Amino acid sequence: MVDYFIWKNTELNGTLFKNQKVVELGSGTGLVGLAVAKICPEIKQMVITDQLPMMSLMQENIRLNHLNKSVTAVVLNWGEAIPHLSEALDADVILASDCIYLEVAFMPLLETFFALTNKPSSVIYLAYKKRRNADKLFFQAAKKKFILTEITEDPKMKVYSRDKSHLYRVTRKPLDQQRMQGLQKVNSEV
Ligand SMILES: C[S@@+](CC[C@H](N)C(=O)[O-])C[C@H]1O[C@@H](n2cnc3c(N)ncnc32)[C@H](O)[C@@H]1O
Repeated sequence: MVDYFIWKNTELNGTLFKNQKVVELGSGTGLVGLAVAKICPEIKQMVITDQLPMMSLMQENIRLNHLNKSVTAVVLNWGEAIPHLSEALDADVILASDCIYLEVAFMPLLETFFALTNKPSSVIYLAYKKRRNADKLFFQAAKKKFILTEITEDPKMKVYSRDKSHLYRVTRKPLDQQRMQGLQKVNSEV
């Protein structure tokens, strides 16, 4: 994902994510979010998120990289209601790197995708490495509410797809399409 953004930012003459609020889910150490904040100097805000035990490491990494002005670390547990004052809200861009690995977390992660994509223009970048067949359950459920498009323009794509790693651009389906799918399901059950 970071490789792709470095390439894309060069293509866009350094304007990638200009004036945009970017929220990363399941940031872990914060590597992806911190790298994006470094390579995109015109970003409005980067919010890196994870569960409580990761906060001190994330905060330390923000400090060590001198990114206190542009990056904030907040607790965000997938599937839980997001407090209305949370800095994670109103994102233009959501990043999720290597977050599809735990079957019990598939639906909570999708609920959080849905909660964060309330702006019609919001877009999720999802980096995924195929490890288990069960992962297809995530994609089946995701396709009910979202449109997933594999990013193929990255010159390094062939290299990482050999390693079963893929990068997707994910947007919410229009509401009428979602309703239609619900209806078709009901019809097929009758
Ligand atoms: C495999 S790591 C990926 C870390 C980082 N995004 C990367 O690409 O290196 C998955 C991360 O998701 C976080 N995570 C797992 N379940 C979560 C949940 N229910 N809510 C929030 N974060 C969760 C973990 O704490 C972990 O940091």
